[in-house]
Amino acid sequence: MSVSVLSPSRLLGGVSGILQAASLLILLLLLIKAAQLYLHRQWLLKALQQFPCPPSHWLFGHIQEFQEDQELQQTRKWVETFPSACPRWLWGGKVRVQLYDPDYMKVILGRSDPKSHGSYRFLAPWIGYGLLLLNGQTWFQHRRMLTPAFHYDILKPYVGLMADSVRVMLDKWEKLLGQEDSPLEVFQHISLMTLDTIMKCAFSHQGSIQVDRNSQSYIQAIRDLNDLLFSRVRNAFYQNDTIYSLTSAGRWTHRACQLAHQYTDQVVQLRKAQLQKEGELEKIKRKRHLDFLDILLLAKMENGSILSDKDLRAEVDTFMFEGHDTTASGISWIFYALATHPKHQERCREEIHGLLGDGASITWNHLDQMPYTTMCIRRHCHPMQMIGIMVVLSIYGLHYNPKVWPNPEVFDPFRFAPGSAQHSHAFLPFSGGSRNCIGKQFAMNELKVATALTLLRFELLPDPTRTPIPMARLVLKSKNGIHLRLRRLPNPCEDKDQL
Ligand code: HEM
Repeated sequence: MSVSVLSPSRLLGGVSGILQAASLLILLLLLIKAAQLYLHRQWLLKALQQFPCPPSHWLFGHIQEFQEDQELQQTRKWVETFPSACPRWLWGGKVRVQLYDPDYMKVILGRSDPKSHGSYRFLAPWIGYGLLLLNGQTWFQHRRMLTPAFHYDILKPYVGLMADSVRVMLDKWEKLLGQEDSPLEVFQHISLMTLDTIMKCAFSHQGSIQVDRNSQSYIQAIRDLNDLLFSRVRNAFYQNDTIYSLTSAGRWTHRACQLAHQYTDQVVQLRKAQLQKEGELEKIKRKRHLDFLDILLLAKMENGSILSDKDLRAEVDTFMFEGHDTTASGISWIFYALATHPKHQERCREEIHGLLGDGASITWNHLDQMPYTTMCIRRHCHPMQMIGIMVVLSIYGLHYNPKVWPNPEVFDPFRFAPGSAQHSHAFLPFSGGSRNCIGKQFAMNELKVATALTLLRFELLPDPTRTPIPMARLVLKSKNGIHLRLRRLPNPCEDKDQL
């Protein structure tokens, strides 16, 4: 009896043979991968033996210790136990050495290593390769091109624009609150105010955007992107771009990026349209100092090879985000700190009152004359960290390092009193070295203007029912917002009018 080549039993036998071979191959590949992981981990353990750390799982590293809401507490615990540096193991045998010692910071920031592609690359779909993410020669060209936008002649008139934005916010608060000191979640209002400021200063936007729906959606998109980015960095399955784009978090990220880009595109289009108007371009070229968006648009028009559309868009997205989210967090935490330390708040108010009177006008020259307020402000800028090759500069860890700052939990502005000796790299809210924050002077001005004008109008009080829960994001945020009670102070001018 002959058996057909295509008989079902022979076919099944053939298929199961292929399956068996495939399973064996997969098993072999898995074994090779596991052996590679093991050997790589052994090599890293040896290389890092001078940096002790708590025991870690061979595959999951320290993931268990750093559950999402434990991040800050855990960092502080490690900083206390290992006061200079500590390797943090991630999944799959990857490791990052967290540094929080001023001497290490000084060495690393004094070098010009490129930023690691690792986690920074997750920011790219959102802010593109602008100043924050660029490296090498292109970074250098862009930094040189944009530095004049932060010249003090440019920054001086911004103080008035900042004050206008703060006043719009304070007027809104007055209307919202009436006479009572009812609680208010201030972070969302402050975010709109700082977005308003950067729109006016860097993007020549006319009018206020603080009641604008589009701006509120943009701010919501930024909040979502912050959260999504943070969960992506921590999730082993979200590392690959293709896999991530198929997950619901990936799709959400895509939508939020689209929303953020629509907003920035509109701003650029509007400014381009203004420049098309007769004489406008010539007027701008005659200006001694160009503002941020004008520098970019002129560079694009005059030398397109330096700045492509994609580059321009990346810089706009970078500055729109960096220029408002950082200062909004800083101002919100300063307000919370002052609300919980009424004596310091009162001393700041007295200083500002002595300087500005009723606060009708605040100028660049005033900003250097509020030493006590500046000391209080300095305590409360905490960006999280910067990532390098295998090295994370933990700015949060540095600022909470008891070896550098004894009793770091205590709010003590006198740490920053003029003349108090500190290591040059003990306090780095704006990072250091060549990759320091280009907007630091702009940011400090905004923090001072917002604090000064707010303290003249309101007494800040904590809301004991909703204490902020700090959480790690690109910049320190609060999980449940920042709720404060605001009590309207008598206006000295109104009192005079009544007499
Ligand atoms: C309190 C407010 C701010 C804080 C605490 C802060 C902090 C920082 C830090 C720590 C870095 C280094 C980040 C890294 O290398 O990963 C940085 C870089 C940067 N910041 Fe800020 N920043 C603030 C406000 C601003 C503002 C207002 C702007 C723009 C108007 C700005 C624009 C930038 C840019 C473009 C970079 C990248 C610079 C480069 O690599 O050349 N920042 N900032």
